[in-house]
Amino acid sequence: MYIEKLSLKNYRNYEELFVQFENKVNVILGENAQGKTNVMESIYVLAMAKSHRTSNDKELIRWDHEYAKIEGRVQKQHGSLPLELIISKKGKKAKCNHIEQQRLSQYVGNMNVVMFAPEDLNIVKGSPQVRRRFIDMEIGQVSSIYLHDMSQYQKILQQRNHYLKMLQIKKQSDQTMLEILTEQFIQMAVKIVKRRFEFLKLLEKWAMPIHQGISRGLETLEITYKPSVEVLEEQDLSKMIASFEEKFAKVRTREIERGTTMFGPHRDDLLFFVNGRDVQTFGSQGQQRTTALSVKLAEIELIYNEIGEYPILLLDDVLSELDDYRQSHLLNTIQGKVQTFVTTTSVEGIDHQTLKEAATFFVESGQMKPVN
Ligand SMILES: Nc1ncnc2c1ncn2[C@@H]1O[C@H](COP(=O)(O)OP(=O)(O)OP(=O)(O)O)[C@@H](O)[C@H]1O
Ligand SMILES: [Mg+2]
Repeated sequence: MYIEKLSLKNYRNYEELFVQFENKVNVILGENAQGKTNVMESIYVLAMAKSHRTSNDKELIRWDHEYAKIEGRVQKQHGSLPLELIISKKGKKAKCNHIEQQRLSQYVGNMNVVMFAPEDLNIVKGSPQVRRRFIDMEIGQVSSIYLHDMSQYQKILQQRNHYLKMLQIKKQSDQTMLEILTEQFIQMAVKIVKRRFEFLKLLEKWAMPIHQGISRGLETLEITYKPSVEVLEEQDLSKMIASFEEKFAKVRTREIERGTTMFGPHRDDLLFFVNGRDVQTFGSQGQQRTTALSVKLAEIELIYNEIGEYPILLLDDVLSELDDYRQSHLLNTIQGKVQTFVTTTSVEGIDHQTLKEAATFFVESGQMKPVN
């Protein structure tokens, strides 16, 4: 799939923008602070209904304005699809094919994107929270059921935490309600854990050969899920439920003392191993970067395999960061099959051949124009 038209209204530093893109490499060139990342972000937000940079949607609205609007037309195998997202201070409204979507979880997934930006190194180096967000966003764009389950999970988690707090401060003493909430919590939790296991297994399958290629056969990559409740990938749901029930029975008193849910998908993590060692702890900067890149490239294949079309690739500020070998490896992987957006402050950082075949755009203070 590829995005053929994009228009913005009051999005970050863009007052108005209308651009057309081709299904090839699109280079976005401009000095610092002109609006390169903002354009990339707007494409990401149109696809995911969420920014990769912030969870505060209000930041996306141009200062001193009421709302921001992103419109786009995405070309897919079965025709072209108009998408629209309005972000106001009250919330978000999404339209697909001019029809307003009741739920954002239904809207997400109409357009697929993979973003690779410098902060993605945090998937390897950062906190478990960053990794959980990564897993959730990525499963979410290929599974609306998962997005729905995830929001149900969040609701039950909140209710359960609220009730635990009441027990903690002794505003409540009846534990029957806690039992009911725990049962509901576990039902959702195991579904999520199961899906995450499946996702990571596939991600690993695609990332392994890519990592091996980038490291010239010197490194092997493994990805494993690290659940906070001891369950195993091969267990069926009823086995997992039993493990959760056992765990929650054991920690009940402690949970009441603390007034919070101590275990579950909101406390899980994932680990990357390079040559058998945890790359977060033992990896060099280069190995961590290769891991992040392999994972992102793997996502392209994973999405292709799930939905039968390649996603749009957004490379913000990363191409010139990669050495020649990694850069050509990346460009070879995507060659001709993935619409790609690349930002840069100077064309010098970009492979000559790629540049010759690319469409180039110049960005300056919230304006973006094609360069002929
Ligand atoms: N909500 C907003 N309203 C208006 N302007 C904003 C808003 N949010 C960010 N900006 C401005 O947008 C400008 C461009 O930001 P952007 O991150 O796109 O720059 P960039 O071209 O990617 O620069 P760099 O090369 O440094 O990465 C910044 O100067 C920033 O202050
Ligand atoms: Mg930028």
